[in-house]
Amino acid sequence: MDYQKILNEIALEVGALENSGEVADYIPELAKVNADKFGIHLTTMNKEYFASGDSEEKFSIQSISKVFSLAMAFSLLGEKLWRRVGVEPSGNPFNSIVQLEYENGIPRNPFVNAGALVVVDVLLSELKDPEADLFAFVQSLTGSNEISYNKLVAQSEKETGYLNAAFVNMMKAKGNIVNETDEILDFYYKQCSIEMTCRELAAAFLHFGENGMSYEHAGFSLTKSQVKRLNALMLSCGFYDESGQFAFKVGLAGKSGVGGGIAAVYPEEFAVAVWSPKLNKKGNSVRGFHSLELLTTKTESSIF
Ligand code: DON
Repeated sequence: MDYQKILNEIALEVGALENSGEVADYIPELAKVNADKFGIHLTTMNKEYFASGDSEEKFSIQSISKVFSLAMAFSLLGEKLWRRVGVEPSGNPFNSIVQLEYENGIPRNPFVNAGALVVVDVLLSELKDPEADLFAFVQSLTGSNEISYNKLVAQSEKETGYLNAAFVNMMKAKGNIVNETDEILDFYYKQCSIEMTCRELAAAFLHFGENGMSYEHAGFSLTKSQVKRLNALMLSCGFYDESGQFAFKVGLAGKSGVGGGIAAVYPEEFAVAVWSPKLNKKGNSVRGFHSLELLTTKTESSIF
């Protein structure tokens, strides 16, 4: 498979289309990004690398970070985790609060904001130094010690994150949160404002494509069955109320973030990360989504 030729074609094809959508501006600091950036990086299981565009530039990974914190919490609690957070697609936007009230403070899945906040609560309860552990885990997955978060983005999220505070408070009122609201939010904003390049993200996600292999990173390990569950959740819930479309058009397990990144895996074959800041109405990168659709079409690779 000539992946390099295919990535070059994708970059040309998406570049020729109008750069539609909007940069996320509900986090003011994120709105400052150059909307014309585009990068894609694909790493195969045999550690071959292919890239195009701004694939070496760091960007805010936002909700893609929810996969890393979930992997840690799942490693710590095992199946007990699912008593506190569900595994069903929400059919709602990532920041919807309606379901949370009538479902008694148990979020639909770990990738809507409320679910990711429960996952943070678990990490704060179970770990002595959760922040150090999160960075050690991500650095170990990535094979790089140059992973950090953007303090301005974290601060900007904190200043405007009224809805996230509402999620935590409602879940605390309903008995599904142990730690203090501010501690949970501070950790969550650090996690969301982690910056990575497409190359680093693809390297990290490659481990989730090691189907059937246990792995351990910085003291956290997942069994074969747990890796399957993580991928199943990415497939069914990784793109919020657009998860069906992503499975339908792309056919890979993946996760998006409002920084415009998408990381995805084709188990036992490759991991790919793409970045383009403009988002569609569902909060997913327009060019990122389109690029991955082109990738699986041109390579005829899909998990189905
Ligand atoms: O809490 C928020 O709204 C952001 N830090 C993360 C949202 C996000 O990336 C949703 N993804 N598409």
